Amino acid sequence: MVPVRLTGPRLAIREFHQTPEDADALHAVFGDPEATRFLPFEPRDRETCADQIALFLEEAEKEEREVYRLAVTRLADADDPARAVPIGSAALGLAPNRAASLGYALRRDVWGLGYAGEVVGLLCGLAFGTLGLHRLEARTDVGNTASVRVLTRAGFRLEGRVRHDFPRHDGWRDAYQYALLADDVRPGAGPGSAAGPAVRGRAVQGGITPPRSGGEPDVGRLAFLTGFRGRKDPSDEPEPRPTRGTESRP
Ligand SMILES: CC(C)(COP(=O)(O)OP(=O)(O)OC[C@H]1O[C@@H](n2cnc3c(N)ncnc32)[C@H](O)[C@@H]1OP(=O)(O)O)[C@@H](O)C(=O)NCCC(=O)NCCS
Repeated sequence: MVPVRLTGPRLAIREFHQTPEDADALHAVFGDPEATRFLPFEPRDRETCADQIALFLEEAEKEEREVYRLAVTRLADADDPARAVPIGSAALGLAPNRAASLGYALRRDVWGLGYAGEVVGLLCGLAFGTLGLHRLEARTDVGNTASVRVLTRAGFRLEGRVRHDFPRHDGWRDAYQYALLADDVRPGAGPGSAAGPAVRGRAVQGGITPPRSGGEPDVGRLAFLTGFRGRKDPSDEPEPRPTRGTESRP
């Protein structure tokens, strides 16, 4: 495996480690009912989180890597980002036609600091820059106002509402589908071209396996790519208006 290492102004993104510290850190996010409120799964126990890390690393070892499930750390937490305890997770799942889905989830005590925007910027840099992708999608539960804000500020455009996108214990959830094209951030990136770095993606240290040119993504295994949180009851939330995509501040 050629490990992914991305560095932003305040955050770094790296591969998960199969350590008790990283399992605890993932559990601090995916085991939290509030953090998983808008995610397409119920809170997970620590053992499941540890098993997931093993799966993430298995996926990372594949010759043609299709899924990047990565740890988000803070630069301020350690001299070496590789040793910092994760504050969340970030994911990119490749799809046919140079597309991918992205996802992110942070520990509850670091919400409201603008970190998610930086994570999206780094994933955009990986997707449009390093991997030369053309389209990035993100789905978010219609009640997840924080995630809607993050995507809108990053320049993602609303494409529609996906009805009954995934089930939770309390019923089916609808999701908003957003997307950002390489053309949105770099006009002129045609079907045959790889767009340059998008938004505020920073240096990618270490090579990345190029994307597959075809094949279907394993949607079941990408379940945690989409997910969500919000401040209001989803039924109180007005339908967001599609944006013009002129904003590109992640
Ligand atoms: C969605 C999430 C990633 C946002 O991350 P973040 O780093 O807190 O994002 P930001 O700091 O940019 O905040 C986004 C918006 O939510 C608001 N917000 C964030 N945390 C808040 C809180 N605890 N209470 C009230 N508002 C909050 C911010 O004020 C901001 O709104 P504004 O732009 O109108 O000011 C984070 O809340 C999270 O991890 N949630 C759980 C997992 C999840 O839902 N992932 C989404 C995947 S699509």
